[in-house]
Amino acid sequence: MDIHGKRVNTNIILKTSLDVIHIKKACKIVEELLIELGGVVKPGIKTIDIDKYAGDFILKKKGVSGLKGYMGFPANVCVSVNNVAAHGIGSDYIIRDGDIITVDATIGVDGWYGDGAWTYIAGEATPEKKRLVKAAWQAMLAGVAQSVAGKKLGDIGSSIKKTALRHGCNVVEDLAGHGIGRKIHEEPVVLHVGRKGTGLPIVPGMVFTIEPILTLGSGKIRFHSDNWSIIIADNKLSAQFECTLAVFSNHTDVLTLSTINLEKYIDFPPVF
Ligand code: MF3
Ligand code: CO
Ligand code: CO
Repeated sequence: MDIHGKRVNTNIILKTSLDVIHIKKACKIVEELLIELGGVVKPGIKTIDIDKYAGDFILKKKGVSGLKGYMGFPANVCVSVNNVAAHGIGSDYIIRDGDIITVDATIGVDGWYGDGAWTYIAGEATPEKKRLVKAAWQAMLAGVAQSVAGKKLGDIGSSIKKTALRHGCNVVEDLAGHGIGRKIHEEPVVLHVGRKGTGLPIVPGMVFTIEPILTLGSGKIRFHSDNWSIIIADNKLSAQFECTLAVFSNHTDVLTLSTINLEKYIDFPPVF
């Protein structure tokens, strides 16, 4: 890839349109699961119930969890509550009214993967929590809008960060999106912060995720003692939406939001 006249080696595996059809099948299951979970995540259930629901759903759709066993990860999906930024593991924790719960699912079909996450509000939430969840959705969509052939990865990061700040939120800058395909994490790293007009060029055939985590805190993170869960360092709330998208020469396909009318949901997520 040629940046500023220099030859730069990256290991981005560009996908053919046939590859994208495979990835789309996996993404479709992710999308269906995340939509259905809108009716599942409620006060009174345990977070492990969400994991079980997801496990059964994936089996029924003849997919596989791309997370279970990945570097030893013990669950079907990530379930992250309130100040848990990411990689939470379902447990006996009973969801309370007003909790905000992020479910992140990476699902494989025929060796190809799709990845997506939504944040749900259990029961009634304060206006502040609603603002955070809305901001996370809008930040992801702002990144999607920049994900077109001819732009640069820095355009994505800068628009995400700007959107977060506009809503009085911070971005967890240490966690990034990623390429995806036959592996759940491929190059490039897609930062949720950046400078307009800088970074790798976005080219047709790229398939990657955008998954900004927004927080009402400072954006610094630390590891939980379970060595998986990533916690917002100042214990403030966090919310995240993730999508997988495919870049074509004259359009971009958001593979995990294929049935969602984005014009209708420009301000807030479908499950809100
Ligand atoms: N789905 C997550 C992502 O968006 C990956 C989680 S890795 C795990 O990249 F091992 F923590 F599950
Ligand atoms: Co994910
Ligand atoms: Co991801």
